[in-house]
Amino acid sequence: MTAPTLMNTYGRQPVTFVRGEGVRLFDEQGKSYLDAVSGIAVNALGHSHPAVTEAIQRQAGELLHTSNLYNVKLQQELADMLHDVSGMDNTFFCNSGAEGNEAAIKLARLHGHRRGIELPHVVVFEQSFHGRTLATMTASGNRKIQVGFEPLVRGFTRAPYGDIEALETIAKNSDSVAGVLVEPIQGEGGVNALPEDFLAKLRELCDKHNWLMMLDEVQTGNARTGKYFAYQHSGVMPDVVVTAKGLGNGVPIGAVLAHGEAAELFQPGNHGTTFGGNPLACAAAIEVVKVLREPAMLDQIASNGLYLKSELEKQLGELPGVNEIRGKGMMLGIELDRPCAELVAQARDKGLLINVTAERVVRLLPPLIISREEIDELVGTLCPLIRQTLSQAGAA
Ligand SMILES: Cc1ncc(COP(=O)(O)O)c(C=O)c1O
Repeated sequence: MTAPTLMNTYGRQPVTFVRGEGVRLFDEQGKSYLDAVSGIAVNALGHSHPAVTEAIQRQAGELLHTSNLYNVKLQQELADMLHDVSGMDNTFFCNSGAEGNEAAIKLARLHGHRRGIELPHVVVFEQSFHGRTLATMTASGNRKIQVGFEPLVRGFTRAPYGDIEALETIAKNSDSVAGVLVEPIQGEGGVNALPEDFLAKLRELCDKHNWLMMLDEVQTGNARTGKYFAYQHSGVMPDVVVTAKGLGNGVPIGAVLAHGEAAELFQPGNHGTTFGGNPLACAAAIEVVKVLREPAMLDQIASNGLYLKSELEKQLGELPGVNEIRGKGMMLGIELDRPCAELVAQARDKGLLINVTAERVVRLLPPLIISREEIDELVGTLCPLIRQTLSQAGAA
């Protein structure tokens, strides 16, 4: 249901939300919904978080925007905070995930040219999702989103997700690789995790061949998986990390963090943005980082994530038709043996918002502040619906 004056880019669900509070959204009729989508991993602190609301209101009355032609105090403050939580050296602020990935791809190309590569390539993966701009759409491993938009952008080499041997083969056969861009857990692709040792092996490979190790943490960043960034589960440092989504809790902001040589690549004139890192967006993000960087908060997200996963496993783990329950923290997927898009409307009728991705994967991305009681409610509403779907004829 899209109004004729809006471009027809989304098959929208027939519901309009007018208010949100914590993990709940309310529609025009006042019906309440438990939000296990969070605007696709955006509302990390839930809806109408008091500290974020207060910061936005205060900042709106003080200063919305100047320009990156000048020093922006809150931008510097936020960059310092991200440096402290990540160990990365510096940050470029933009407005979205796709924009952040564009900047990462540009960094890899600069790095490649510095090394004397004429046509530098970035290695990307099957089933990946990096955005909808021309380069990030090309980088994404989903043919459906590319069809009709050819010519695609040159300079990408694709490998199976998580396959380190495929990368070693690429290294043997090509001297034009400048970097690798990978999601630590694929979100849109179906909540697919990398093998446990992949990032450590990728680090070694990148060091050996002088490739930039670039992580798309647009969805996994900002504590979604129980560490501030998902790479922090692995113990290795990447060269570039891109994040967005949860960083502003709904105020558009993205960030490209760089470490080591990658942090020196951009020089004045190489890259820019009008809005990126403006005072309003930074004021919101500062409040988000203040909450999410706290060790007690990260522990709570990790343990509540384990609780949610174990409750789902208890209810669904042995059920024929449930292929796998996977993911980390508050980024979980339940893969069924059949397409299950109808679950979205069935859950919505019962006051629960969920997402289905890759046709057969129920994706749960609740606000990171969700309580155990709210998790019980989520599981109590969702699991009977999945059981009902699986009891119907038409197994794959
Ligand atoms: C891993 C990943 N990268 C990039 C993007 C694109 O982000 P945006 O929609 O903010 O451009 C997304 C969005 O879903 C994503 O999940």
